[in-house]
Amino acid sequence: MGSQSHEHYSELALEHFRNPRNVGEIKDAGGVACKEHPACGDRLKIWVRLDQDENVEVKFRASACVGTVAAASAATTMAEGIPAADVLVKVTEQSLSDLFGGFPPGKSHCPKLVATVLHDAVSAARKAQGKDSR
Ligand code: FES
Repeated sequence: MGSQSHEHYSELALEHFRNPRNVGEIKDAGGVACKEHPACGDRLKIWVRLDQDENVEVKFRASACVGTVAAASAATTMAEGIPAADVLVKVTEQSLSDLFGGFPPGKSHCPKLVATVLHDAVSAARKAQGKDSR
């Protein structure tokens, strides 16, 4: 479990942390991905379901630091309802970092963890629909 310090986070990041969007699970998800960061032990799991037009529905659960919970909330908000291929391009470590005006020192791996798990879940869902995203 990472530090719960609120120092150095933007107001937007703290707002997402205090009121995270898209928390939960999707029972018939096409793709699920889960990762534990080896250094801090923070865990993130993301469920993705695609409709017939490949638009994304997404939920997450996290046992993680402020930055990862906030980034997962923002990332799922950005991904929800847009095509899976767009998620892979638009919701990235960089776009999450930009959205929050950067992350505090030592926390740069948090948006990377979120982007990695989200992309893995989206790619798994696309593969399950017979479309390889890579
Ligand atoms: Fe490790 Fe945030 S401190 S994921």
